[in-house]
Amino acid sequence: MRRKLAAGNWKMNGDKVALAELDTLANTPEATEIDILVCPPATLIDAAVTRLGTAPVAVGAQDCHAETTGAYTGDLSAAMLADVGATAVILGHSERRALHHETSEAIREKARAAQAQGLMAIICLGESEFQREATNTLDIIGAQLSLSVPDGSTGLNLVVAYEPVWAIGTGRVPHPDQIGEVHDFIRARLERRFGAGVGRSVRLLYGGSVKPANAADIFAVSNVDGALVGGASLTAGDFRPIISALAQA
Ligand code: 13P
Repeated sequence: MRRKLAAGNWKMNGDKVALAELDTLANTPEATEIDILVCPPATLIDAAVTRLGTAPVAVGAQDCHAETTGAYTGDLSAAMLADVGATAVILGHSERRALHHETSEAIREKARAAQAQGLMAIICLGESEFQREATNTLDIIGAQLSLSVPDGSTGLNLVVAYEPVWAIGTGRVPHPDQIGEVHDFIRARLERRFGAGVGRSVRLLYGGSVKPANAADIFAVSNVDGALVGGASLTAGDFRPIISALAQA
C-alpha cells in the first residue's frame, strides 16, 4: 500500500517570515495519516527543519548537484542538503529543464547522488503544450522517465511527479482522463523496468494548478498518490484543504 504524499514546492518564494506557515502545517491532523513535505528555497531549509522539530512534516530541497563537493560555485550537493535535515529533493522540474537546460541524463545523475545520500528523489516529468499537440505525450513521458530515473530506485528513494508544463501556474488542469492515462502509463513502465513489487511501491504525484477546489477530483484518479503543489502550497490556508482532500481520497 502506497502512503499518500502532499508535497509543496515553494519555488523562489518565501522568506523567514513565511516560515510561520509551517506552524499551522505542523498541527494538521492528517499529518499522521499521509506524508507531508515542504520544499522551501534552500536558504530556509535549515530554519524550517529546526522550526518543525518533531512535527510530522518533512522538508525537502528543489535541486541538487550531482557531485558531493568541489568547485561548483553557487551549487549545493545532496550531502549538504542531508546535512541540514532535508529528506527529499525535487529534481528535473520543468522550470529547471527549460531555464537551466537540464537534460534527463543530468537529472538522473543528480537523482543518483540524492539517493546515495539517503534523500528521496522526486523526479518531475511533463510535456509542453506544443508536444501534446504535435506529438505523442506518452512518448515524451516515456523517454523522460527511462532517462531520468536511475537504476536501483525503490519506493523509498523515488517519487515521480507528472507535471504537464501547460498546467503549471496557468490554472489549466488536464481532464482526469488525461491525468489517469499518463499515471497508468508511468506505473506500467515502472513495473516493467523494476518489477511489480518496486514498480507498485513508487508514489506518483500530479502537479500543475492543484487548488483546494480541484484537489478531490484529481485525487480520485487512478494511480495518483498525491500532489506536487506550487502556488497553493505557499499558505497553510490553501495547502491544508488540499492535504485534507488527499487524506480523504
Ligand atoms: P502550480 O501549483 O503553481 O501550478 O505549480 C506546480 C508546480 O510546478 C509544482 O512543482
